[in-house]
Amino acid sequence: MKYFIKTWGCQMNVLDSDKMAGILLGLGYTPAKEVKDADVVLFNTCSVREGPENKVFTELGRLKALKKRKNVVIGLVGCVAQQEKERIFKRAPFVDLVMGPGSVGRLPGLLAQAQRRNAVDTHFYDDSILFPASSISRSLKTKAYVTVMEGCNKRCTYCIVPSTRGREVNRPLESILSEIRRAVDDGYREIELLGQNVNCWKHGGKAFTDLLAAAGDVPGVKRLRFTTSHPRHFPLAAADLMAERENICPYLHLPVQAGSDRILKAMRRQYDRAWYLDLVEEIRKRVAGIALSSDFIVGFPGETEADFEDTLDVVRRVEYDTLFSFRYSPRPGTPASKMDAVDAVVARERHQRLLNLQRKIQARRFAAYTGRVVEVLNEGESKRGGQFMGRTECNKVVNFTAESRPAVNSFAMVLITRASVNSLGGVMVEEH
Ligand code: SAH
Ligand code: SF4
Ligand code: F3S
Repeated sequence: MKYFIKTWGCQMNVLDSDKMAGILLGLGYTPAKEVKDADVVLFNTCSVREGPENKVFTELGRLKALKKRKNVVIGLVGCVAQQEKERIFKRAPFVDLVMGPGSVGRLPGLLAQAQRRNAVDTHFYDDSILFPASSISRSLKTKAYVTVMEGCNKRCTYCIVPSTRGREVNRPLESILSEIRRAVDDGYREIELLGQNVNCWKHGGKAFTDLLAAAGDVPGVKRLRFTTSHPRHFPLAAADLMAERENICPYLHLPVQAGSDRILKAMRRQYDRAWYLDLVEEIRKRVAGIALSSDFIVGFPGETEADFEDTLDVVRRVEYDTLFSFRYSPRPGTPASKMDAVDAVVARERHQRLLNLQRKIQARRFAAYTGRVVEVLNEGESKRGGQFMGRTECNKVVNFTAESRPAVNSFAMVLITRASVNSLGGVMVEEH
């Protein structure tokens, strides 16, 4: 029996797919190369914006023919499943299984049920955060994601995540540390701690910085990252740890979403522009050379040209190393979906202006690397072939040539000889 899993969405979904793959391997399934060879097909979905959600249903439609040909179990799992629940069976009648992100551990029972009749589970089980590390089949070769908390107690007015991932649940420290130790034993040198609101982690009287220090103390952890930080909850003590500890990467994803106070208020982000800019300044004072990235939403309801100029101004002032920007997409049941939308043409044009500005900034920041030697964690041969690919501690992609083939998961010292807007290129001068 074979399985096929396709994943959309964030890191948390990637990890959930690795958990489901682990469960299926444990049940004796093997991975199918193509969807047509599978006996179980799972689509692990994202509902954060309308676009990706629609794509899921388009792709799902293609499975109809497969279902006619063979006895295959088709499962829709993840955030769209959580959002739509039983309604999925109406929209796509050939789906057999609907499972939310809080029920991943229940997959074996649901699969057995789905072989006979429709199975659905969108309950948030408290023990889902305790998923056994031994049952994860990791798809990334050089980075181990480790869940520390799940869910989000914020109420950003545009966001569906609190309803798809539920309330915050924290994982006990010892359980986190034992998964990290296991990942190191399996050969991983880079660990990324995951949580929708990762800095809000707390357990048994301990807070996020205690967790970060303890995770960094695990022998063999050479690189430690975490995501996602809500600016309101990022502790400056974590920045201090970044500066003090060599293995805590000087890279921070600190989504601001918008630059105008009026829009930030309407988004219910709980900070204003000046407060965010002060935070960035404090962090940069503490961690020299830190790389920053951010998420932006363009065309939030009510956004005027002046509001958008404020967003561009934040981008100019902060000079992010990378930036993820999205046109606002109304999500069912969210407060913002009841507000008046910005004209689509205007939103598109603003988005393009933001991208253009960031391109210029990024080209400059990346070009500054030429002539420097950086440490790269080798991920293997790059897509172009004849070259290798890896990332710096600041998360920049580096393509490089080497006289002898460097091992995957080894560190390469690379002399940077060229830079583009999104990546660096160079030659390996040493491997360790
Ligand atoms: N917990 C994280 C991730 C949230 S989803 C955080 O708080 O940052 C990832 C990104 O998707 C968000 O940062 C936001 O920029 C974007 N996003 C969320 N809802 C959106 C919507 N309705 N329309 C467009 N972008 C959205
Ligand atoms: Fe969504 Fe806001 Fe929670 Fe992030 S902090 S997941 S944007 S509600
Ligand atoms: Fe998408 Fe769910 Fe992640 S909505 S961004 S997959 S938490």
